[in-house]
Amino acid sequence: MNPATYIIINVATIFLIQRGAIQVNLGHMAQGDVVALYNYTAQIVVELIKLASLVISINRAIACANRIQTVLDLEPDMTYPQVLNTPAENDLAVAFQDVSLSYNHNDAQAVSQLNFRVQTGQTIGIIGGTGSGKSTLVNLLARFYDATHGKITVAGHDVKAYPAGQLIDKIGIVPQKAVLFEGTIRSNLQWGKPDATEQELWQALEVAQAKEIVQGKAGGLDAQVEQNGRNFSGGQRQRLTIARALVKQPDILILDDSASALDFATDLKLRRALKKLVHKMTIFIVSQRTSSVRTADNILVLDQGQIVGQGNHDHLMATCEVYQEIYYSQFPKKGGH
Ligand SMILES: Nc1ncnc2c1ncn2[C@@H]1O[C@H](COP(=O)(O)OP(=O)(O)OP(=O)(O)O)[C@@H](O)[C@H]1O
Ligand SMILES: [Mg+2]
Repeated sequence: MNPATYIIINVATIFLIQRGAIQVNLGHMAQGDVVALYNYTAQIVVELIKLASLVISINRAIACANRIQTVLDLEPDMTYPQVLNTPAENDLAVAFQDVSLSYNHNDAQAVSQLNFRVQTGQTIGIIGGTGSGKSTLVNLLARFYDATHGKITVAGHDVKAYPAGQLIDKIGIVPQKAVLFEGTIRSNLQWGKPDATEQELWQALEVAQAKEIVQGKAGGLDAQVEQNGRNFSGGQRQRLTIARALVKQPDILILDDSASALDFATDLKLRRALKKLVHKMTIFIVSQRTSSVRTADNILVLDQGQIVGQGNHDHLMATCEVYQEIYYSQFPKKGGH
């Protein structure tokens, strides 16, 4: 539309000046009249162009509004009861009973037949190759998805029995991809607990081994975080997201491959600091490294969506082939640790 408009304008201008020149030459018109006429035409044309782009904008706006409306019209297929009114079924922190999930109804199952029980305060390691279902397992725990089969209880209640928001209040989850939001370090840390005090923030930072990062930035807690946290390194981002999960003092802490960008020494310090916390948390450590999970009370070994081994490090070293394979790939038999 725009090229056509400009051609018409320019052709009209040429026509006007050419005819005007002849009329002036013949003495029918004054020069000022031609100039005035040209100016009026230009003004009209400018308004026409604006009108044209307005029509385009309105059309775009309508299309966008329709897209938004379809999103708003979408009904979530998860339902939440108003209040938690069933008594606790057990005194376990977490229990999975025959849990399976396929993301889309026709897809193969991402995890199947998961069975395990976790006592309050235990540390659970989850280990397995890429795509073995580790993230899927923790997503089920936080009810990001509903299990296709089976039952999951958290603190004795079925995850489906919790009113909206109450389950996630109990769980601090550090996602596999460390995401920070634009703002300040403080605004990022207060995400789960808007009224967290200065002291609580520093405590969380200390446990997450992120204290030096904040101290090293001009402005400390009020240092700027750019979009997606791109002014921090991968490891720094990871530690800050761990601190963010710790600030709200959850009952269950999930670290989904949160040590992947940390060096071994920092990883160790982090795990030691978590152990020392007064507020006893049940901790899930998802990792590809045996060194991150070997001190866990119970280790779940996942392979192609199934639990193929369960127990502590020594037990698995004696009984579980998949675990041995992972271990020896990281610590070759000869040459020791
Ligand atoms: N949102 C999704 N929709 C469909 N399939 C998915 C989705 N998320 C994961 N999957 C599938 O589920 C399986 C398990 O994925 P999951 O993310 O749990 O693996 P993982 O053990 O966390 O791997 P990694 O170590 O790479 O993080 C994979 O085969 C994957 O293709
Ligand atoms: Mg994962």
